[in-house]
Amino acid sequence: MAFLRSTFISLSKSPAMRRFSESSSLGGRLSSRFVAGMEIEDVLRAAEELNANGISATLDSLGESVGTQAEARRSADTYHRLLDAISERKLNANVSVKLTQMGLALDPALAYQIASELVSHAAGLGNFVRIDMEDSSFTDVTLDIVRRLRASDTGGLASRADAGHVGVVIQAYLYRSLADVEALVRDRIRVRLCKGAYQEPPDVAFPAKSDVDANYVKLMKILLQSGVYHGIATHDEKMIDATRSFVQEKGIDLKSFEFQMLYGVRRDLQRSLVSEGFGMRVYIPFGPEWYPYFMRRLAERPANVLFLARNFFRS
Ligand code: FDA
Repeated sequence: MAFLRSTFISLSKSPAMRRFSESSSLGGRLSSRFVAGMEIEDVLRAAEELNANGISATLDSLGESVGTQAEARRSADTYHRLLDAISERKLNANVSVKLTQMGLALDPALAYQIASELVSHAAGLGNFVRIDMEDSSFTDVTLDIVRRLRASDTGGLASRADAGHVGVVIQAYLYRSLADVEALVRDRIRVRLCKGAYQEPPDVAFPAKSDVDANYVKLMKILLQSGVYHGIATHDEKMIDATRSFVQEKGIDLKSFEFQMLYGVRRDLQRSLVSEGFGMRVYIPFGPEWYPYFMRRLAERPANVLFLARNFFRS
C-alpha cells in the first residue's frame, strides 16, 4: 500500500504524464469523479447543488507552482472572479488558494502581495480565503504569510467567531504541527485540520498511519476548545467518531466548527453528518490543471483506480 501511495505521488510530479493526461479526453473523463469541470461556471453549478443540500463549499481553481509572474497574476484573476460570482449568486462558499499558484516559489513577496489583494477583496465581501498547505518545504513561509495577512486583515464585515477573513491548513502528519496549532490558536487564526497529502521524509512526518491518526485527534481537541471557528477535514470515520464523542463530552456547540470533505468523496457520509446537525463544507476543485490533484487522490486510496475503471467500462 505504501508502495502504491509513493508511486502515485511520484507520478503526480511527472511533467510528461501531466501533459499527456491533461490533454487527453480519457483523462478528462476519469478526473470528473473528483473535479467539478473545466470552467468557472461548472464549479459554481456544483456549489449551488451542494448548497441546495445544506452543504457549504470552498472553491479551488486547480494549479500549482506557476513559472512566471504573469501566470501568477492570471491565477489570481480567476480567484477574484470567483469571489465576485459567489457574492452575486449569494452562494454559501469561500475559496481555497495555493500560494505556489500565486508565485511563492518564484518570489514570496509576490505571493504575499497577491494573497493580500485576495484577502482584502474577500473581506470587502464578507467572505474568506483559505490558504492550502503544500509540501513541507513551504510550511514556514506559508505560515509566515498567513500570520502577516491576518495581522493586516481588518477591513470588511466581521466573520465567524471574529477570526478574520484568512485561514490556513495544518497537516497532522508533521511533527511540528502541535507547536504550529498552539501558535495559531493564540493568534486566533482559523485552521483546517487534515492528515496531509504529500510524500514527506521520516525526519519531518510520522511514517505510521496510527501516529498520524493519534496526532489528528490530539490537534482536533485543541482546536475545538479554542473558541475560533475551525474546519475538521477528513473522510476517516474514526476521526469523525472521535470528534463527535469529544463534542458530546465537552458540550461543544455543533455550529462552532465544521467538517470538511473533498468533492466526490464519501457523499453518503457528507449527507449523514448534515442530517445530524453538523456543518459540512465540500472542497470543489475545477480547471484544466487537474492532474497533480487527481493523482494525490489516487495515492490516498489506490482502490480508487479499480473504482474508476469499473465505472468507466460500465458507462
Ligand atoms: P485517510 O486517508 O486515512 O482515509 C480514511 C478513509 O476515507 C479511507 O479509508 C476511505 O474510505 C476514505 N477516503 C480518503 N481519501 C479518499 C479518496 N481520495 N477517495 C475515496 N475515499 C477516500 N492535504 C494537504 O496536504 N493540504 C491541504 O491543504 C489539504 N486540504 C484538504 C481539504 C479538504 C477539505 C480535505 C477533506 C482534505 C484536504 N487535504 C489536504 C487532503 C488530506 O490531507 C488527506 O490526504 C485526505 O483528506 C485523506 O485523508 P483522510 O483524513 O480522509 O483519511
